[in-house]
Amino acid sequence: MNRFSRIGFILAAAGSAVGLGNIWKFPYITGEYGGGAFVIIYLLAILFIGLTVFIAESLIGQNSQANVATSFVTTSKSKNPNWKYASFMVFAGLIILSFYSVVLGWILKYVFISISDLPASSEIAANTFNNLISKDIISQIFFHTIVSLTVIWIVLKGIKDGIEKLNLILMPLLAIILFGLFIYALTLNSFSKSLEFMFYADWSKINSDALLAALGQAFFTLSLGIGTIITYSASLSKDVNIIKSSILVALVDTIVALIAGVIIFAFLFEAGAKSAAGPGLVFISLPVIFEHWGTLGNVIAVSFFVALIFAGITSAVSMIEPVLMFFIERFHMSRKKATIMCGSIFYILGIVALLSMSSSYGAQLTFFNKNAFDWMDYVTSSIMMPLAAFIISIFLGYFVDKKLLEKIFTKHTNLLVFNIWYSLIKYFVPLAIIVLFLNQIGVI
Ligand code: PHE
Ligand code: NA
Repeated sequence: MNRFSRIGFILAAAGSAVGLGNIWKFPYITGEYGGGAFVIIYLLAILFIGLTVFIAESLIGQNSQANVATSFVTTSKSKNPNWKYASFMVFAGLIILSFYSVVLGWILKYVFISISDLPASSEIAANTFNNLISKDIISQIFFHTIVSLTVIWIVLKGIKDGIEKLNLILMPLLAIILFGLFIYALTLNSFSKSLEFMFYADWSKINSDALLAALGQAFFTLSLGIGTIITYSASLSKDVNIIKSSILVALVDTIVALIAGVIIFAFLFEAGAKSAAGPGLVFISLPVIFEHWGTLGNVIAVSFFVALIFAGITSAVSMIEPVLMFFIERFHMSRKKATIMCGSIFYILGIVALLSMSSSYGAQLTFFNKNAFDWMDYVTSSIMMPLAAFIISIFLGYFVDKKLLEKIFTKHTNLLVFNIWYSLIKYFVPLAIIVLFLNQIGVI
């Protein structure tokens, strides 16, 4: 049958969670918000909000064993068919995948740059990256095409032979590479400085923006709000302890983010570079540092970008699976037809995203001061994902039989754990998301 084994599920969910969010985004936002204090806030956001919603999505999926639309309807108390509209969230996955694939394409290009072409100075590094993004449309389309075809090829094979197998191979390799990079970072003089930066709290850098960034990152990093976790846990047997599995996945994701942060800041500080380098951190700051380390630097650089590819590919397949499952089950499409249709959509949107950053087409693809790439990121991360998480929490808190949830929980844990989770999902999570939205529109 086309379903996950328990270990297959844990690897696939961890593979989905661990992605560019951990190795690229987490370090650069931690750098921008000054380190330790942000890390603490992030950990609290993961514990009280991210994990709570992760368990919520797992419960919905595992309980109904179906695509996102059907899952909402069958889990609801009233069985009201209108709950099918909650499946709007699966389309966020397609949008995220379009620009995620473009970024993965850059990373693939950087694997080749790492072999023999590392930049010798910060100016060259900045030029290399800016050139790629604003002028080199051909390269970007080429690498985006390779990434897209890989994703399509894997999901065509389905859950067991495609997604589970991919994670079974790539996740251990990723762990080995990260371990190696960590050991190398450990030998550097700056290792202790990096630890101090990551874990010593300087509260002066923290403002409401930092809180909201931590909340947004908690959703993104745990793959919440696009139906991935619902869809993956729908392919998991009902006897598996979903609470334990959820905690394990959240823990793995958090550990990888922290380790990636420690590694990257040790590298940066070793070269005397700044911690607040923004999104260009891994594409501009790191390559120069690697170049200074000679041949060893090439080895480290290749390992680093290959790790990013492995982490990113396992996340990418998890972004498209919810929308495939939706079309396969609700519209009785074959997997092949659904994959070709959805694959073409994200592939074309990806090309729009990359063209919108080019100097030749950027102006035509910029609307209200944001180019198409930034719009796709903004609409998904700042609107669709938090909205989906809000609907999920309101759904479980107010439209699902409490007895059903209690029964599932107490099968695996005790009543106290259930009560804590239930109050978090019913009151705390929706409130936190409302505050997030009010802040975005400038009310608070
Ligand atoms: N969690 C992934 C990361 O950290 C991104 C992702 C978001 C994957 C949503 C699937 C769904 O990179
Ligand atoms: Na993540």
